[in-house]
Amino acid sequence: MKYFIITGTSRGIGESIAEQLIAPDHYLFCISRERNEKLINKSHNINYYEFDLNQIDEIEHLMERIFSAIDVSNAEGIYLINNASVIAPVAFIDTAMVSEITRNMNVNLLAPILLTSFFIKKTNHYRLDKRILNISSGSAKNLHPGMSLYSTAKAGLDVFSKCAALEQNHSDAPTGIVSIWPGMIDTNLQQEARSQDPSLFPSAGLFEQVKDAGMLTTPEETAQQIIACLFKSDFEHGAVVDLYDYSKVQQGKF
Ligand SMILES: NC(=O)c1ccc[n+]([C@@H]2O[C@H](COP(=O)([O-])OP(=O)(O)OC[C@H]3O[C@@H](n4cnc5c(N)ncnc54)[C@H](OP(=O)(O)O)[C@@H]3O)[C@@H](O)[C@H]2O)c1
Repeated sequence: MKYFIITGTSRGIGESIAEQLIAPDHYLFCISRERNEKLINKSHNINYYEFDLNQIDEIEHLMERIFSAIDVSNAEGIYLINNASVIAPVAFIDTAMVSEITRNMNVNLLAPILLTSFFIKKTNHYRLDKRILNISSGSAKNLHPGMSLYSTAKAGLDVFSKCAALEQNHSDAPTGIVSIWPGMIDTNLQQEARSQDPSLFPSAGLFEQVKDAGMLTTPEETAQQIIACLFKSDFEHGAVVDLYDYSKVQQGKF
């Protein structure tokens, strides 16, 4: 059996990843605040955790629950996909509320760090296929005023992934770790960016143009690319993998 822990499976890319991973020899542990009944109805091999990743003090207990349901004796591989994310607050930093700033950092950066830490702690002694994908963003490099928190969290996630990967090079039974920039995808997160008031988020129009120019990929297509990256025989341990050509967007070529 292959076990997959996936965050952010209620919609968007995470839902598509989970859907595409459904198979008789796969067992899925799905995490989001909202329960995805449509997904649950598609397989008996799903444990769903309605969990708010902003509750960082509860993450250790969540991982205890998940690992108590994994039968390591029959495990061929264990995988963690840190996909859940929030773009809010899309706001200049002096107008953001403390609770919004904290939530952004908790969900986008601290939760994946804690999940990675507990994943490695729990699987340290198992000589299995162990891999972690951190879903990051080109926003780590392509900066927009009003997105400082999201960009900072994603840049932090990239650095964390690269450094944790270096640590795994010292392990007898290492976990592979990769950070991915998935591109620009037609999901709620994109919609939230383009629907902001341009007087408060000057790049709202750019996100609108990218959509109008048909440059958004689908969650299904992106999930396919992410899964291919997860199972690659030459897993790009320690790399930040870019799945998209941002140059057209940067040059305003629509
Ligand atoms: N869409 C893009 O263009 C794009 C571009 C670059 C990178 N990405 C990255 O791709 C990943 C998926 O994004 P998406 O576009 O699919 O976004 P999305 O459609 O907004 O989905 C976000 C997912 O994260 C979950 N989530 C948010 N807050 C959470 C919380 N506090 N606790 C638990 N789960 C939470 C949501 O579930 P609940 O609301 O039910 O909790 C939802 O399932 C993210 O890491 C994002 O940064 C997306």
